[in-house]
Amino acid sequence: MAIRKLRYEGDEILSKKSREVEKIDERLLDLIDDMIETMHKYNGVGLAAVQVGILKRVIVIDIDDGNGPIVLINPVILETKGSREVEEGCLSFPNKFAKVVRPEEVVAEYTNREGKRVKVKAKELLAQAICHEVDHLEGEVFVDKMIPGTLEIFEQEQ
Ligand code: CO
Repeated sequence: MAIRKLRYEGDEILSKKSREVEKIDERLLDLIDDMIETMHKYNGVGLAAVQVGILKRVIVIDIDDGNGPIVLINPVILETKGSREVEEGCLSFPNKFAKVVRPEEVVAEYTNREGKRVKVKAKELLAQAICHEVDHLEGEVFVDKMIPGTLEIFEQEQ
């Protein structure tokens, strides 16, 4: 396991679309382990492979609910319900926060790390995280969809 280098705002890879994963091999499992370690190191709720420079449809999420990290390969959002305004940030934009509109609930389908296609019904923070990370796979970032006037920029510690 290793910490991967994060890609930050201004890096053009963040606007690229990621490709479907075709097989779950050792290399992909290493990437997943590294993504989880990297997400935890930087205290993120989620991380998409593109944020460590890999254009594959893989995301990891840990909402710190005691269930541990979840790994979503080739995720698809099937249904959304409701909408709410939420505060959001992103490991690729470490000093920016803004409000965005996200669904209250989503139903998503994905392949887990054992290669099984599974469905999850997610609410609140988990639903928000899935939407945020799936956007990354399409080359979209949260500041593209923020509610105007809600951007907050913090000075970075040197
Ligand atoms: Co992000």
